[in-house]
Amino acid sequence: MPYYRSAGSIPPKRHTQHRTPQGGLYYEELMGEEGFSSDSSLLYHVNIPSAVVDVRPWELPDQSLVPNHPLAPRHLSTHELFEDGVTGVDAVTGRRLLLGNGDVRLAYVVADAPSPLYRNAIGDECLYVESGAATVETLFGDLEVGEGDYVVIPRATTHRVVPTGAVPVRLYAIEANSHIGPPKRFLSKYGQLLEHAPYCERDLRGPSAPTVVEGDDVEVLIKHRGPGPGGIAGTVHVYPQHPFDVVGWDGCLYPYAFNISDYEPITGRVHQPPPAHQVFEGWNFVICNFVPRKVDYHPLAVPVPYYHSNVDSDEVMFYCGGDYEARKGSGITQGSISLHPGGHPHGPQPGAMERSLGAEFFDELAVMVDTFRPLELGEGARATDDAAYAYSWSGGRRLGEG
Ligand SMILES: [Fe+2]
Repeated sequence: MPYYRSAGSIPPKRHTQHRTPQGGLYYEELMGEEGFSSDSSLLYHVNIPSAVVDVRPWELPDQSLVPNHPLAPRHLSTHELFEDGVTGVDAVTGRRLLLGNGDVRLAYVVADAPSPLYRNAIGDECLYVESGAATVETLFGDLEVGEGDYVVIPRATTHRVVPTGAVPVRLYAIEANSHIGPPKRFLSKYGQLLEHAPYCERDLRGPSAPTVVEGDDVEVLIKHRGPGPGGIAGTVHVYPQHPFDVVGWDGCLYPYAFNISDYEPITGRVHQPPPAHQVFEGWNFVICNFVPRKVDYHPLAVPVPYYHSNVDSDEVMFYCGGDYEARKGSGITQGSISLHPGGHPHGPQPGAMERSLGAEFFDELAVMVDTFRPLELGEGARATDDAAYAYSWSGGRRLGEG
């Protein structure tokens, strides 16, 4: 995120001596993207950040993927993946993989236990909080997050997720193989969010000041490129002291939160296409959101979407609030995910177009990920796939049945 912040204790000039109260030296670490050619931050550690006392494999949750074949639109019910009142599940090891390809993986978890310390060395993560609350503790400081928050965590940021609410926290995890940030067309050439962007820097919440945590022989779970399914693998590094030992940092690379209710929707006289609803982008995918809004006000407008063939993308909608007009009658409800793959035109369910005429407001909330390469089905998708969804536009009629 190219927006400068500073927290805690840093020296007046970079790469110069920064002394502890006892007269020793803090250890400066540059955490930077694209070699030394993009956003970075400088962090000041109490201990040597490279020191490890053990390295061993971490057995990742099931990362297997199978092709979406025969090609079909899919309806997944994330809320069926976890029992009510589930206990002992955490936001890192409890994730269930729904969909993925070589650019991004989408997972869901209902967590009520603190996660282990974790860092994703494959890419940035964007956690969308469907409900509940948590503290995302990071070496940069803490983020208090709740319903409707996107939490963007840069690649290789050591952190953990601690649920804090009376109910478990429900997270939709978008794991990139790249970086995640605002669409470039929203940014000035120097990285400021432009006037036409649907949100601005004031809407982004950075971490609190960092705190130094005591601890000996502390494990960090690392997800990284490797020999496992999908070309990823896990490793545990054990650090002699707690890795949250930063006294200060500054720069333009850090985790942050943004609430979906701060997204100002762009509306028009006739239907606005999904790019008007974009919030973030990564390599080979985009993230859009459909928020409660006034809808199309041309006197002859059709407020639900027209049928569309996304010939270059697979489209994944996560229905996370309100009442989604275009999908009525399809079985889709809170927590549902639809996958509309490239190669199949999709649009409103039968009757939805007619019902929408004259509507002035849609009370709907959905997070959409469009990928530019086909998505495959993870074990979480295979466990909840509603085979009837593919036939919902034909009134449920399927050759060979009934
Ligand atoms: Fe669509």
